[in-house]
Amino acid sequence: MSDTERLFPDNAGLDRAAELLRSGELVAFPTETVYGLGGNATDDRAVGGIFAAKGRPSFNPLIVHVPDIDAALAIAEFDVGAERLADAFWPGALTLVLPLRAEAGIAPLVTAGLPTIALRVPDHPVARALLQRAGCPVAAPSANPSGRISPTTADHVLAGLGGRIAAVLDGGACPVGVESTIVGTYPQPTLLRPGGLPAEAIEACLGAPLAAHGGGISAPGQMASHYAPDSPIRLNVTDARPGERLLGFGPMESDLNLSPSGDLTEAAANLFRHLHALDATAAPIAVAPIPEHGLGRAINDRLRRAAAPRD
Ligand code: TXA
Ligand code: MG
Repeated sequence: MSDTERLFPDNAGLDRAAELLRSGELVAFPTETVYGLGGNATDDRAVGGIFAAKGRPSFNPLIVHVPDIDAALAIAEFDVGAERLADAFWPGALTLVLPLRAEAGIAPLVTAGLPTIALRVPDHPVARALLQRAGCPVAAPSANPSGRISPTTADHVLAGLGGRIAAVLDGGACPVGVESTIVGTYPQPTLLRPGGLPAEAIEACLGAPLAAHGGGISAPGQMASHYAPDSPIRLNVTDARPGERLLGFGPMESDLNLSPSGDLTEAAANLFRHLHALDATAAPIAVAPIPEHGLGRAINDRLRRAAAPRD
């Protein structure tokens, strides 16, 4: 493939991106969580291209993005709990895994043969404008090579996938900074991946605790080693060893700090950007302790995977 186009989210750029998606090309676009690598979810060839561009094992199903709840209702079956969560949190950083409607015309590769589909309405003006113009559901995993750090800027996307996709729509930095929270509602509401919407908010909406994920499908966000920088990484470090770069949290001496004031929302927004920056120095990385509540659960989940032993 020739060079990847960098498009800007004006009318011309959005039209071009939508036209590329409709014609089966791959376009990376900003969401409130991370950049997604988008392809037409009803086009087998486009979806195959997503797996090829990422180098992703093809048994991992993808999240499908739609502009609104009506579009989601045409693709999946919502029970009462799913409807309540969609009403409360869409558009937003919540992905629901629901029974797929066979007649929706979703390419089988999207769901990797599962009878369920992961759906989300993103809360980002550029993503929503693109989805409205494209007029097709858009399958989009994070726009990084498989197993690598997720992208929160267009430059991250180009560094990882430049030359392998048609275009990236540059909408600046992603405000949330970690991927969506994934919840399955059948047979009972279950947290499949902690993410940008705190699990506590979901439990408050349902009035019941979420069940924990007990194995089941193997997916990239659930693999032990994922989101991995090149450099080795140590967690819960209070003082770094000589030569290590310290990623701090809260008021402390550090090379980069996720949030000097100890704010978890700010820390999530900075997480992947700081990991990309530290990784570029090639020095080992040490990370300060992060509290395990709210967005801290998503941050610690990503950090544990980044630190897990690699193959
Ligand atoms: O924030 C996000 O969710 C980003 C942006 C681009 O929207 N997308 C993202 O997609 O993180 P991806 O492909 O990297 O993560 C897909 C996750 C996998 O970890 C997989 O577990 C889950 O979605 N998933 C997809 N379909 C599923 C299904 N039918 N059952 C269970 N899990 C599913
Ligand atoms: Mg990913």
